[in-house]
Amino acid sequence: MTARSLPDFVERDVDLAARTTLALPGRAAYFAELKSTAQLAMLAREPALRTMRRFVIGAGSNLVLTGDFDGLVMKVAIGGRQLVEENDDAWVVRVGAGEDWHQLVMWTLAQGWPGLENLALIPGTVGAAPIQNIGAYGLEMADRLLSLESVDTLTGKPVPLDHAGCRFGYRDSVFKQQGWHLDGQRLITHVSLRLPRRWQARTRYAELAAELERRQLASPSARQIAEAVIAIRRRKLPDPATLPNAGSFFHNPRVSGSLAERLATAHPELPRYPQPDGSVKLAAAWLIERSGWKGRDLGRVGMYERQALVLVNRGGAHGAEVIALARAVQADVSQCFGVELTPEPIFL
Ligand code: EPU
Repeated sequence: MTARSLPDFVERDVDLAARTTLALPGRAAYFAELKSTAQLAMLAREPALRTMRRFVIGAGSNLVLTGDFDGLVMKVAIGGRQLVEENDDAWVVRVGAGEDWHQLVMWTLAQGWPGLENLALIPGTVGAAPIQNIGAYGLEMADRLLSLESVDTLTGKPVPLDHAGCRFGYRDSVFKQQGWHLDGQRLITHVSLRLPRRWQARTRYAELAAELERRQLASPSARQIAEAVIAIRRRKLPDPATLPNAGSFFHNPRVSGSLAERLATAHPELPRYPQPDGSVKLAAAWLIERSGWKGRDLGRVGMYERQALVLVNRGGAHGAEVIALARAVQADVSQCFGVELTPEPIFL
């Protein structure tokens, strides 16, 4: 992109550290904060964009910066939340991708529309939520998403997607495939959620059930569930504002039924979550803790003392230190248990 042809909302040489929750250093050669789809269309008319690396960010809460980015970072800041349909079955809300996820959850609850309460206090934007199919305490984005609107960043053309088109999996969607989000090819502009009128509390996740019992709530309302979830999260997960982090740093690994059985024989207390296909999901936090990494640092980064799955930046760390720690944890978990951990955040 030459200076001459830049739309005026494109900035140069912009610091990204403050725009990500792990606060690692890194700069973007070009940076555009996009408040409307019209701005996206303007960018798409820029010929230099075709040869330039692109990347889309929201609140930067699932991102590891490994250095400078020699391309264009597009920050989605499209706002707006609207009830677009109300029928016998559900309330349908359409939300701008730049809205804050937790504020959306609290707003829907204040309107009397339940359904998102288990996902309270998850950091990040609404547009980022489907990419990794955010989930917590027995509920995930895929359970509530009706459809979304995305744009091809090269052509500026809208590309709507229904639920099936998103190809959701555990912390996974079509956006994590080549040619979608990771290449900056697709940008989510709006998300439509379906909040069921015949709402049923989801309280089976052990830690949530225990918290509700402590609060003596046998049939909790959606707001009470949100309050319980918020309390659990505040207890265990560090606030990025005081201790930079990107949430869970590894996926909970899926292993074969036979490996899970072998491990359980040696470690009967190993948390195991059997899957419909016969595989078994294991708790990465448990494996990390038992490999000796809970509360342990390497350089200026460490695995958090209250939740071993969260990698924290103790201050001033670089991306290389994060990679070194991740590798060390992976190596030790592999050596102790024969299980391979894969990182959950996106590396840029
Ligand atoms: N555990 C340990 N040591 C620890 C922490 C946990 O042994 O330091 C054990 C617990 O005893 C429990 C098990 O690990 O048996 C699971 O722990 P927890 O309930 O805290 O959940 P998690 O599996 O570590 C996942 C999600 C979180 C989500 C919680 C609650 C992933 C990668 N992480 O964590 O999501 O909030 O469940 O539903 O799936 C995120 O994705 O960023 C995230 C925070």
